[in-house]
Amino acid sequence: MAKMLVDKERVAQVRGVLLEWYSRHRRDLPWRQTRDPYAIWVSEIMLQQTRVAVVVDRYREFMCRFPTVFALASAPEQEVLALWSGLGYYRRARMLHKAAHAVVAAGKGKMPGTAAELRSLPGVGTYTAAAVASIAYNEPVAVVDGNVERVLCRVAGWDANGEHGRYMDEFAARLVDPDRPGDFNQAMMELGAMVCLPRSPQCLVCPLAEFCKTRGEHKTAPRARSVNREVGYALCLRPRQNGASADPDGAEVLLEQRPQTVSVMPGLWELPSLLEVPNGDTRMTVRHAIMNVNYIVRVRDVQETELAALAAKGGQRRWVRLDDARGLALTGLTRKVLSRVNSTPSGPPHIECQPNAADG
Ligand code: ADE
Repeated sequence: MAKMLVDKERVAQVRGVLLEWYSRHRRDLPWRQTRDPYAIWVSEIMLQQTRVAVVVDRYREFMCRFPTVFALASAPEQEVLALWSGLGYYRRARMLHKAAHAVVAAGKGKMPGTAAELRSLPGVGTYTAAAVASIAYNEPVAVVDGNVERVLCRVAGWDANGEHGRYMDEFAARLVDPDRPGDFNQAMMELGAMVCLPRSPQCLVCPLAEFCKTRGEHKTAPRARSVNREVGYALCLRPRQNGASADPDGAEVLLEQRPQTVSVMPGLWELPSLLEVPNGDTRMTVRHAIMNVNYIVRVRDVQETELAALAAKGGQRRWVRLDDARGLALTGLTRKVLSRVNSTPSGPPHIECQPNAADG
């Protein structure tokens, strides 16, 4: 345990300066304007492994289309996945959808009311349950995500890879403010995201500097080296079919659904893969990073007559109007490529949102 923070008075000081800092520096984020446990739950699931800047627009669109747990539970999974496009880690969306069914079936739409009960939902672990319960219900439970762990390690002077595991939760639980646990937890996460940065901590502006054992000396392990990987995809376009004749107004693209049996992005739609990565003769090259892999994606035009150039992955293929493709659950890479083919924006389907639109 960090010795200097065992003292109750020091703990009270830490809470005070952190909450004061948060009240002045907190970002104005859409999920901070509600105490609705469903809305907070959605935001916390989206924020796992995903930067705030990426989440904001996706969250707004998602909440616009699924403003209640009933709206989410009654939607087809493909639509939920389409609105998740660009956030990655699609398993989160499937689990959220599954959990929405459970909330509607078991609780008639009422969210579980404590951290312990929230943990019984699919995809809700200790971290998400603590975040939702502290923010929505004011339950005094501590949130420990990667950012918070880094802040606590530095304050306590623990080696990031050391044997502090069992003390971390104890330390966090001791610090959390029992009167304003939601604000306190968000302040810790915010401090980790904005000030106590992994490689360049901003100690001069840190409200916890006077309580911190390391003040910039703490080393965070370097990021895993990224690797480049070249892949080839086919852009197979044909004039839109209108009955037996071709419609000059618009084109169709050939898409393939990833089999449900694959572990990565099952059920999502993508451009068919080429048997070989093209060497020259490409329509475009797109870069797309997933975790520590930088994909260099060579996209080649393929005519309808040369479909033998495509790798058979076993998923169903379908011709889709370019205008309609954005409404499908596309992989992020396919959405990116199609956005460069016509005016399809690289975000998910656009939702016209009326403020306060009811959608029970
Ligand atoms: N990361 C995850 N949840 C967060 C929240 N509520 N505020 C700031 N950062 C977060």
